Amino acid sequence: MQSFEYYTPTKVIFGKEKENEIGKVIKGYGASRVFIVYGGGSVKKSGLLERVEEALKKENIVFEEFGGVKPNPRLSHAREGVKKAIEFKADFILAVGGGSVIDTSKAIAHGSANPDFDIWDIWVKEKPLVKTNKFGVILTISAAGSEMSNSAVLTNEEIGMKQGLSTDLNRPLFAIMNPELTYTLPKYQLTNGIVDIYMHTLDRYFTHTKGNKMTDGIAEALMRNVLESGKIAYEDQTNYEAMSELMWCGSLSHNGLTGLGAETDFAPHRLGHSLSAKFDVSHGASISTVWDSWANYVYKKGPERFVQYANNVFGIEGIDEDTIKKGIESTVAFFKSIEMPTCFSELGIGVQDEESLKDITKRCFYKPNTLVGKFLPLDEEKIYDIYTAANK
Ligand code: NZQ
Ligand code: ZN
Repeated sequence: MQSFEYYTPTKVIFGKEKENEIGKVIKGYGASRVFIVYGGGSVKKSGLLERVEEALKKENIVFEEFGGVKPNPRLSHAREGVKKAIEFKADFILAVGGGSVIDTSKAIAHGSANPDFDIWDIWVKEKPLVKTNKFGVILTISAAGSEMSNSAVLTNEEIGMKQGLSTDLNRPLFAIMNPELTYTLPKYQLTNGIVDIYMHTLDRYFTHTKGNKMTDGIAEALMRNVLESGKIAYEDQTNYEAMSELMWCGSLSHNGLTGLGAETDFAPHRLGHSLSAKFDVSHGASISTVWDSWANYVYKKGPERFVQYANNVFGIEGIDEDTIKKGIESTVAFFKSIEMPTCFSELGIGVQDEESLKDITKRCFYKPNTLVGKFLPLDEEKIYDIYTAANK
C-alpha cells in the first residue's frame, strides 16, 4: 500500500424528500444570498426547483437563478455565471443537477471568490487557487460523482479542450441525495451514469500497486454492485433500492475511496474526454466506446491484475489469458446489455479518417511531451492505435 491522504469533508444527506431541508441546511452554513445553478430545464419540469426555492423562502434566504448549463459544460457559460454571482453578491452557490451543473457551480464558486482571476487561468494552474466561495449540491443524476469529488471538468470551446481541475477546494460542503429525484432521467442518461460510476472505480483498479487488499475489496464490491443494480435499474428505474445503490456507489466511486493507496490510471477517461471535446458526445458513452480497445491493448502489461478482475468481479475461474479475455468480454457485454456503445459507429460518430484520428489523439495531451495513464503510459502513437481499434 502506498502512502495516501484521504479527505472527504462533504456532508451526505441521503434519502427521500431530503431536498426539502435545503433552507435549514444552507442557513446552518451562515449563508443568506444563494446563487442557484441548474441545467437545461429538467429541474423546472419536475418541480424540484420550485420546491427548493420555497424551502429557501421559508428561511428568508434571498436567491438568484442561473440556468442553461449544458452537458460537457462550457467555460464561457461558467464565466458568465461568475460575473452574475459577483454582481448578486452571492455568499453560497447551490448546484441543483448533475455533474455538469455541479462542475459549473464549482467554477462559479472559485471565480466569485477570486474576482481578479479568469477561471481558465485557475484551471490551467496559472493562478493559484487558495480560497473559494461556499457551495453545496442537490443531486439529480447518479453518474459523475462530482457531489463528493475533488475535481471539476470544463470544456474550453475556444481551443476545443475538455479539462479537469483537481483540488480539495472542489469538495462540496454537502450533497443532498434523494434517489427518487433520478426517476425522471432519460434512459440514455441513466445508462451513461452507470458506465461512469463503474469506470471511476475501474480506472483506479488497473494499477501495479501490490497488496492493497482493503481498497481492492471495496473496489470489487462496488463494481459487482453496479453490475447488479445497474441491470435492475435499466429494467425499472423507479426501483428505489437499485436507484439508491447506484446513487451511493456513484459518490463513493469518485470520492477517492476506491483507489486509496494505489497509483491510478484514468487513461480511458482521458481518451473519452477527447471524443467529447471533438464530438460533444456524452461522458459515460465516450468511455465505454474506448474501453474494450484500451483493455486489449494494455492487459499484457499487468496480466495478473486482469485475472484478479475477472475472478473477483465476474466470478470467472482461471489464471490464464483466456480468463483475462473473458473478463474483458464480460465488461463489454455489460456495456452492450445496457445499450452503451463500444466502438465509434455505436457512439454515433461514424468511422473516422486518419486526419480525424490524429486530431482526437492530439486533444488527449494537455501539455506537450507528457504521457497519458500509468498502467501502460501512453504516447501519441499508442493512443492512435487504441483509437484505431475502436474505429469501426
Ligand atoms: O440539463 P438538464 O435539463 O437538467 O438535463 C440533464 C442533462 O441533459 C439530464 N438530467 C439530469 N438529471 C435529470 C436529468 N433529466 C431528467 N431528470 C433528472 N433527474 O441529464 C443530462 C446530463 O446531465 P449532466 O450533468 O451532464 O450529467 P453527468 O452527471 O453525467 O455529468 C457529466 C459531466 O460531468 C463531468 C463529465 O465530463 C461531464 O462533463 N465529470 C465530472 C467529474 C467530476 N467533477 O468529478 C468526473 C467525471 O469523470 C466526469 O468527467
Ligand atoms: Zn467520469
